[in-house]
Amino acid sequence: STTGQDFKVADLSLAAFGRKEIKLAEHEMPGLMAIREEYAKEQPLAGARVTGSLHMTVQTAVLIETLVALGAEVRWASCNIFSTQDHAAAAIAVGPDGTPENPKGIPVFAWKGETLEEYWWCTEQALTWPNTPTGGPNMILDDGGDATLLVHKGVEYEKAGKAPSVDTAENDEHRVILQLLNRTLGENAQKWTQLASEIRGVTEETTTGVHRLYEMQQAGSLLFPAMNVNDAVTKSKFDNKYGCRHSLVDGINRATDVLIGGKTALICGYGDVGKGCAESLRGQGARVLITEIDPICALQAAMDGYQVVTLDDVVDQVDIFVTTTGNKDIIMASDMAKMKHQAIVGNIGHFDNEIDMAGLAAIPGIVKDEVKPQVHTWTFPDGKTIIVLSEGRLLNLGNATGHPSFVMSNSFADQTIAQIELFTKPESYPTDVYVLPKHLDEKVARLHLDALGAKLTTLRPEQADYIGVPVEGPYKPDHYRY
Ligand code: NAI
Repeated sequence: STTGQDFKVADLSLAAFGRKEIKLAEHEMPGLMAIREEYAKEQPLAGARVTGSLHMTVQTAVLIETLVALGAEVRWASCNIFSTQDHAAAAIAVGPDGTPENPKGIPVFAWKGETLEEYWWCTEQALTWPNTPTGGPNMILDDGGDATLLVHKGVEYEKAGKAPSVDTAENDEHRVILQLLNRTLGENAQKWTQLASEIRGVTEETTTGVHRLYEMQQAGSLLFPAMNVNDAVTKSKFDNKYGCRHSLVDGINRATDVLIGGKTALICGYGDVGKGCAESLRGQGARVLITEIDPICALQAAMDGYQVVTLDDVVDQVDIFVTTTGNKDIIMASDMAKMKHQAIVGNIGHFDNEIDMAGLAAIPGIVKDEVKPQVHTWTFPDGKTIIVLSEGRLLNLGNATGHPSFVMSNSFADQTIAQIELFTKPESYPTDVYVLPKHLDEKVARLHLDALGAKLTTLRPEQADYIGVPVEGPYKPDHYRY
């Protein structure tokens, strides 16, 4: 690791490898590259200080360098302890013009396999801007809402004059957050309040982070405007679905190399992520079962040809379990006790509370063994073993390298456009949660057609009149579901 410098990554000598993969990724990310070209002169993010909390991968490196190309200054942390690609982090720390001996990149705080203390320290570093008026960013780019959460909790406790005692913590992670905020309150009782005062907005990447934003908006506690990037059509209907269709099997294969064909797989949740995961495993010849709580999604699953079941009814017959719900307590320790020998258990939802890892660890006599990083066997007292991927954290980023570049080009083009919107038009976005205007969503899709050889039909003016849309779009009403 590096010390004495304004970044922390695992190994700077990986930078050249990271740079080569960034180069390859740029060609696969036509949306981001087109945005760089379009805004090269205008520099719409000049003056922006963007704190990013998002998986530090090769694709994210292309996003970061796009923000910089548009004029932004950037500080970055990963949004998961296992998701950093160390060569991508090294390349970002070194920068295109630097060397490992003379790094000239951006302050990035991320490595694969952080502890929870390190994770929250990294988030704090990304949010702490030396030599600036408020000591903080004026924009946040978030994935899952942890950076936004730290600022909001900090402000809440500063208003109250103290943070709750660490003894009140509900779990390990909560304890770490309370420790951190008790410390900052001691150091500077206005740190987060000052910092929040200059934040123009946050753009949020994922379903789970968006839930948190709407909760704060409803509670009246949201401190700055937020762009729900997840619900751009070119994000959730592509990244969540086609991204997971690619990276779910990638994660399972790299972790276990088990033959998927012929196995019985259970996907918990049939939302956007669940749909991609189900297709992914069916594509490999698995027999796929689905659990759902929503009758609409359950009916979709049935019509797509999957059997809709309850976990209880099938728990002893399934070879591969995958949770995709964004909800908690989906697979409990008592369920895992009933599974087949060498059943594989993984989660692809944002947080690690879908699988009851604490309950599993608390089973008397259970033995955990590391096969390799992010792959563990848990052996029950009766000798039965299950295989848990990424300790219950999102397995496509823990066991593999997350979504491939082309799909992330859509998500990150949405992110970049959302950053430009909130940063350059604060008067249009009073504090609330927004989605991208549809013409921008359509623009992002348009930027990706050429690369796939897709040729769009142009609407004739009479046809446009007939269906009541402008020739240049938007083509659908806001309530259209795709
Ligand atoms: P979604 O809301 O479209 O789908 C979740 C589904 O789970 C819903 O249909 C819901 O009815 C169902 N569900 C909720 N509780 C359930 C229960 N107890 N049993 C069975 N089903 C239940 O959300 P989306 O977009 O599919 O995202 C799911 C999670 O994945 C979120 O945490 C999101 O942040 C995360 N995500 C992860 C990605 C990755 O690369 N690992 C990529 C995109 C999203």
